[in-house]
Amino acid sequence: MDIEIILSQIEEEAKNIKSLEGIEQFRLKYLGRKGIVAQLTSTIPSLSCQERASFGQKVNSLKNKLAVLIEDKQKGIAGNKEDAQVSYCDIGMPGIAQEIGHLHPITQITEEVCSIFSRIGFSIVEGPEIESEYNNFTGLNIPLEHPSREAFDTFYLKDYPKMLLRSHTSPVQVRAMKAHKPPLAIIVPGKVYRPDAVDASHSFMFHQVEGFIVDKGIKFSDLKGVLELFAKTVFGDGIKMRFRPHFFPFTEPSAEVDISCIICKGKGCSVCGQKGWLEILGAGMIHPNVFKHVGIDSKRYTGFAFGMGIERIAMLKYGINDIRLFFENDVRFLKQF
Ligand code: PHE
Repeated sequence: MDIEIILSQIEEEAKNIKSLEGIEQFRLKYLGRKGIVAQLTSTIPSLSCQERASFGQKVNSLKNKLAVLIEDKQKGIAGNKEDAQVSYCDIGMPGIAQEIGHLHPITQITEEVCSIFSRIGFSIVEGPEIESEYNNFTGLNIPLEHPSREAFDTFYLKDYPKMLLRSHTSPVQVRAMKAHKPPLAIIVPGKVYRPDAVDASHSFMFHQVEGFIVDKGIKFSDLKGVLELFAKTVFGDGIKMRFRPHFFPFTEPSAEVDISCIICKGKGCSVCGQKGWLEILGAGMIHPNVFKHVGIDSKRYTGFAFGMGIERIAMLKYGINDIRLFFENDVRFLKQF
């Protein structure tokens, strides 16, 4: 048998030995009295003179290599495992940097919007996502026959009659005006829910910020001034604003508010549908019927209210064309903000 081949087999075998008992068995198999080395040695006398010398050398060297191999294995297994790892540790190698996360873009915009309004005296208030039909609709002067009250436009709770997932943040107007006497200046961030089929511009859940003021002598011009400050802070001083007449049951008069397109600056482009304007929110003067529901005297007090979609503001500000990107949790998208 070729001694080189035996040696390579022995080395392979040694690699799989994991215990001191294993090493001892291995030692007996090769170096023991009836071991392979002993057997090979016993064949030497029967060889011719020439063969004897070189064969004898090879057997000797096999014996020495085995002895070294066994000793190394014994040390390796007996030695502390941690010590073995430490000896591979390169302390000059750069460490693994921990990536630090950041706030979701929707949270960032929500905080930015809230901070603009809190700087001019608004208080931040939150309300529950599960609301009564009364706060979400009736108290806001939305009549029973209004289409938004239909089951396909609002998530009603199956086991709790007259309870629903709020479809806008406006019910917090009712809550706050019932709980506190005017003057009031309140901003309300939060999630809202509508059973819309999900596509590039619709999601069954999205975020709104509601704002309202109630005091003596509040005028439509106050609403305009506050919203202009908001639009210029978020989108830049060069932005123009316009109010289009609209209808909301809980405000009168009501308006939809547009800003000049931030992409084409009003000339007309694909983002604004060639109109030069982008709708950013709904607003108006609080309807006297809403004041009646919450027990505020509409002869003494007036107020304005507005509500905006946070995803829409974020999409306009950052040029994002698909609302689903906010909710897919793809770090490659989120990392950019
Ligand atoms: N609640 C309205 C909506 O969700 C927005 C709005 C709020 C309009 C306050 C006027 C006043 O569309």
